[in-house]
Amino acid sequence: MRVVSCNSFGPLTDLAIEERDPWPLGPDDVRIAVSAAGVNFVDALFVQGLYQIKPPLPFVPGNEIAGVVSEIGADVTTLQVGQRVFTNVGLGGYASEVAVPAKRAVPTPDSMTDGQAATFTQSYSTAWFALVKRARVSAGQSMLVLGAGSGVGLAAVDVGRSLGMTVIAAASSAEKRAAATARGAAAVIDSSAEDVKTRAKEFAQELTGDGTGVDVVYDPIGGAQGEQALRALREDGQFLVIGFASGAIPQLPANQVLLRNRRVTGVDWGAWVGRHQQENNEMLADIVAAIGDGRLSPVEPIAYPLDQAAQALQDQLDRKIVGKTVLVP
Ligand SMILES: NC(=O)c1ccc[n+]([C@@H]2O[C@H](COP(=O)([O-])OP(=O)(O)OC[C@H]3O[C@@H](n4cnc5c(N)ncnc54)[C@H](OP(=O)(O)O)[C@@H]3O)[C@@H](O)[C@H]2O)c1
Repeated sequence: MRVVSCNSFGPLTDLAIEERDPWPLGPDDVRIAVSAAGVNFVDALFVQGLYQIKPPLPFVPGNEIAGVVSEIGADVTTLQVGQRVFTNVGLGGYASEVAVPAKRAVPTPDSMTDGQAATFTQSYSTAWFALVKRARVSAGQSMLVLGAGSGVGLAAVDVGRSLGMTVIAAASSAEKRAAATARGAAAVIDSSAEDVKTRAKEFAQELTGDGTGVDVVYDPIGGAQGEQALRALREDGQFLVIGFASGAIPQLPANQVLLRNRRVTGVDWGAWVGRHQQENNEMLADIVAAIGDGRLSPVEPIAYPLDQAAQALQDQLDRKIVGKTVLVP
């Protein structure tokens, strides 16, 4: 099988394409011929040694994959060869095949392409976990989404709109803003040229009649934009800390949290999954059902050949990606 191997932490260009022996297959495992491996921002952090967890070297990056079952272990009764499935492997996804316990492979619904199946889990679980389980939003509330053309941002636009929220989307390019509008954003802000706080309040006035601000800020970017967005929250508004794609952890001023009784809520979906596997499975089933009946519509990702993993990750870091990316072995 072919893999993308990280043999030392450092530049993305050091990633190597290697041939490896196939994974051994246990009696409860299935082998999956990967048709799409989802690319996530965090994969680039892993490869550069910039993530808080550093895997033992060498490792194969990539968590999300979709493909077709090519072999089943002796005791597997739930899946068949030829069946389309998707799964999260933690690491090892940037490969032409993976082997996982059968119970971790989920049949891909007909409503989803392999590209969507390989890219929706992390982005939609994060958005759903943030809005439903952490913020406990309700229909009619307003939300400002930063980085709204990104993986987790676009998912938040889609999930928020499906829950009946009024979504204001901030993104740096016209293409990203158009993607947010297509997923149901009621208004867009050009974060590269406009003042996000001022524009968010103007749109809140226009769309909800409350010019004091929005109910929720969803921030996967951090830095100065995150600090500004905190000031766009109305009374009892919630700031959701999702990530720091800008590379800077925002220094949220406590006086701005005190004013208007605002709240700051942490969102760490990845760590939560480890402690709440069953609840996460139920959440994933809810998301899959919502995609199946058309309430949610994940983007069709941009495809790169597996051998161009370094370029795909670099384009992600360079903010060129609208929506999601997959590697195709
Ligand atoms: N909390 C959780 O459970 C959780 C789960 C998944 C991901 N995350 C985190 O969420 C963040 C975004 O992930 P993602 O998959 O959505 O990434 P992505 O698709 O690459 O999007 C990141 C967005 O951040 C914006 N950005 C601003 N400054 C940037 C910079 N210097 N470099 C790169 N991007 C910059 C860009 O939007 P504009 O061009 O519009 O500014 C870009 O579209 C990451 O930090 C990731 O680790 C958190």
